[in-house]
Amino acid sequence: MKTVAVLVGSLRRDSINRKFAEAVGKLASDRLEFKFSEIGDLPLYNDDLWANPPESVLRLKREIESADGVLFVTPEYNRSYTPALMNAINWANRPWGKNSWEAKPAAMMGATPGATGTAAGQNALRGLLNVIDMVLMGQPEVYFTYKPELFDADNNVADESTKVFLNRWIDRFTAWIERTSEPRTKAQADAA
Ligand SMILES: Cc1cc2nc3c(=O)[nH]c(=O)nc-3n(C[C@H](O)[C@H](O)[C@H](O)COP(=O)(O)O)c2cc1C
Repeated sequence: MKTVAVLVGSLRRDSINRKFAEAVGKLASDRLEFKFSEIGDLPLYNDDLWANPPESVLRLKREIESADGVLFVTPEYNRSYTPALMNAINWANRPWGKNSWEAKPAAMMGATPGATGTAAGQNALRGLLNVIDMVLMGQPEVYFTYKPELFDADNNVADESTKVFLNRWIDRFTAWIERTSEPRTKAQADAA
């Protein structure tokens, strides 16, 4: 089964984006294996730290490089994505020539209590994912207005039309990863 490194842009314990990502991961578990990559322990980006790189940075780079695809699930902060997510993206983009994101199949989604569903935030993120050379799925877009009643007590998607919509997204992303993955060398496959 293909693996997906999942980065949640919120560091909050009760984050609706984390809850949403976990619910999507449960729904997808017969097609994709979600592996959450934590970003809250990364220092603020500082080039000087490459002299003795923090383990959290090396771990993030390993997790991205060994995954078949990457999913970003982020809140919208003032019509953009979060600084925590940008920090993580910058770390794994370096050192020069060792961009961990390169050619990775990617997708994004976001949840907010608000009506606009993180559309503006994702629009900002789209430009960055292009610059770091990811292969971003364009459709279906997931602009999610979070309502607790759409989920059951175990954080499974309970609402039928939400389930249908997300199942279609999962099928599309699974196919996207198959279709856009670059063939791995034997060494890469062994390391994964
Ligand atoms: C600094 C800041 C800026 C925000 N800006 C937006 C925004 O532009 N659009 C929006 O829909 N919600 C905005 N919100 C509200 C978030 O959507 C809400 O706090 C949400 O619960 C954050 O996601 P999380 O629960 O995963 O942490 C903002 C919240 C913060 C803290």
